[in-house]
Amino acid sequence: MNAKILVLPGDGIGPEVIAKSVAVLEKVAAKFGHNFSFEEALMGGIAIDKTGNPLPEETLRQAEQTDAILLGAVGGPKWDNPTAPVRPEQGLLGIRRHFGLFANLRPVKVYPVLAEHAPLRRELLEGVDMLFVRELTGGIYFGSRQEQGDGDSAYDTMLYSTDEVKRVADVAFRAAQGRRKKVTSIDKANVLAAMRLWRRTVVEVHEDYSDVALEHLLVDAATMHLLTRPSSFDVIVAGNMFGDILSDEASVLAGSLGMLPSASLRSDTFGLYEPIHGSAPDIAGQGKANPTGTILSAALLLRYSLQLEDEAQAVEQAVEQTLADGARTADIAPKSGSYISTDEFADTVLSHI
Ligand code: IPM
Ligand code: MG
Repeated sequence: MNAKILVLPGDGIGPEVIAKSVAVLEKVAAKFGHNFSFEEALMGGIAIDKTGNPLPEETLRQAEQTDAILLGAVGGPKWDNPTAPVRPEQGLLGIRRHFGLFANLRPVKVYPVLAEHAPLRRELLEGVDMLFVRELTGGIYFGSRQEQGDGDSAYDTMLYSTDEVKRVADVAFRAAQGRRKKVTSIDKANVLAAMRLWRRTVVEVHEDYSDVALEHLLVDAATMHLLTRPSSFDVIVAGNMFGDILSDEASVLAGSLGMLPSASLRSDTFGLYEPIHGSAPDIAGQGKANPTGTILSAALLLRYSLQLEDEAQAVEQAVEQTLADGARTADIAPKSGSYISTDEFADTVLSHI
């Protein structure tokens, strides 16, 4: 098949890990007889430096002509001035919103060979395999706001409509039907009106999915349950901010934030794929970054945007074999154990495809 992919390397370790992910897609194309073409564009801090805009028009124009977007990471101390008129993160929020990518899928899986690396006891981690479905284009991230800096108060509004909740709940229930048939919905219905609407709507949507079990958890309780009974979760559906926070917490179960991919989708096959980690400026340029999250994001791109399931699995299996070989980047190396570079790790993945 022919596919056009827009690559947004971004800032910090973004360019290093993106290069590995592109190499993986090129290997897949060669092995399976596909023709993938790659174009690169600016977003984030680097786009601010070069154009003054974290999400240049040119980037959006290019993105509109592609089948999928592969993104590294954005942000860094250089652009972290709280009074700056533009921030790299606006690029990320802007592109999610521009393309209406309302469903953010974040699978969290514990590789048995990494279980000892996570801070929880091994027996608690057995069988952990959950899928976060985070609402990505609404809620407090996009409510009305008064920017801070010009007064002695500031606000952000958490707003959800039933349609926004319905469509993301549908994604969650459908995903659960293909998995262990359980959805946990996260809210704060005991305090927030928007979250009462969330819960009511999820209950309504559930009527169409009688084969799926539904559980509700308040977000504060959910932070505990994620650590005390992580393997009991299948699909977790949450609003924008709670999904952001809980998916970072859950990533610890996998041993490192560097392991986890994500897909941001709408109702068709177009999507944006990025690791859930940030730009890690402290280790940028040192060959220490773990490319796994970005490589697994390429696997999700193959699965969801290109519908190439065999190819997606080939990438996921190559990562598993690489870990089984004992290959470890710095973040997943045993304490005082040795580790290999981003390049060496990615080469091992490539050799297994
Ligand atoms: C994420 C990140 C972003 C978010 C930031 C960088 C804007 O934390 O993708 O989880 O909050 O959505
Ligand atoms: Mg986050």
